[in-house]
Amino acid sequence: MTRIFDDDLDTGFGTRAIHAGQRPEPLAGAIMTPVYLTSTYVQEGMGRHKGYEYARSKNPTREALERNVAALEGARHGFAFASGTACLDSLMKLFKAGDHIICGENVYGGTFRLFDKLLRHLGLCFTYVDTRDPQRIADACTPRTVAVLIETPTNPLMRITDLAAAAEVAHKAGALLIVDNTFATPFFQRPFDHGADIVYHSTTKYLNGHSDMIGGMAVLRDDALAERLGFIQNAAGAVPGPFDCWLALRGTKTLHLRMPRHDENGRRVATWLTERLGEERVIYPGLPSHPQHELAKRQMTGFGGMITVDLGTRDCAQRVLERVRIFSLAESLGGVESLISHPASMTHASVPPERRAELGITDGLIRLSCGVEDVGDLLADLEGAVEGM
Ligand SMILES: Cc1ncc(COP(=O)(O)O)c(C=O)c1O
Repeated sequence: MTRIFDDDLDTGFGTRAIHAGQRPEPLAGAIMTPVYLTSTYVQEGMGRHKGYEYARSKNPTREALERNVAALEGARHGFAFASGTACLDSLMKLFKAGDHIICGENVYGGTFRLFDKLLRHLGLCFTYVDTRDPQRIADACTPRTVAVLIETPTNPLMRITDLAAAAEVAHKAGALLIVDNTFATPFFQRPFDHGADIVYHSTTKYLNGHSDMIGGMAVLRDDALAERLGFIQNAAGAVPGPFDCWLALRGTKTLHLRMPRHDENGRRVATWLTERLGEERVIYPGLPSHPQHELAKRQMTGFGGMITVDLGTRDCAQRVLERVRIFSLAESLGGVESLISHPASMTHASVPPERRAELGITDGLIRLSCGVEDVGDLLADLEGAVEGM
């Protein structure tokens, strides 16, 4: 279990991004945390060691990342995992067969797949609700409800959940509020300030920011809960390798520089798309036309680079996806490079078609992850792609 350095919380976000969790390495004073490529640590005698016994339990590169992200979120403890999905799987091991979890109905397809195809068969019970309405969360609570899990904004429909209202409902039911903060990042949204108990990320996305590793991270404030998750991290062993931790740590150092540019590009592209295609086709919480724009403004300090566009038909979507030159057709998001994807056949293919239709994840929907390129080039690329529409 990795606890933050308390004095890391005294500094501003950018200083934390660069320094939190890291201290000069004792042997040579290396300014950058080394990649500790080791599976085990030499012990001086039986039971006498430097606090490190085996690298599944602890690795100094991993600890630096865990402290760094925990400090960015304003948490006390951090736990790194081999992927965002592995992180969620380990979080679910906090619970037992018969426990009930309320989950947002529009979450990443892999989250639904993990719950519906694996964990349900081990006895965990899930109810999927539209968490935009806190009353629906309250109505779904049962005496066995142990957690409410939300994404906000959601993937890909960019729906917003009122974090404070969700926390109040969850806590009234004696449940934990777990928040996937992958889309917003702690730069734009701080779920602990609104009452969340656990925040997790796919670090694969904005935290790493360079599309060169897969990872996950959970951060918590509560010591007892952290103790239990630390046990699970070691006992289940879904830990990341030290080089991936180093890459993620290198990414978080520039999070405060990248996010404003993702946001700026996101706003410009969303506004342009609105003017070009009509506001009813563009879903972006930063647009006044987004039905929850006021809530988004209240609980987020920026809206990032994720935009969903409804092009009406699969053919139109395919045309745009295959015509772009700077946006690359690929799964994932949050990197410096712009990506474009088709949720129905890619990220949300594991959601049954009838469920996708109910949610509004239609075949005409495309999702843009605006990178940090020159926005004029992104707009020209999209102009070429939507020509004639
Ligand atoms: C919002 C969100 N949460 C979690 C995940 C899962 O993360 P990973 O791909 O690192 O397992 C993803 C992946 O796309 C995601 O978009």
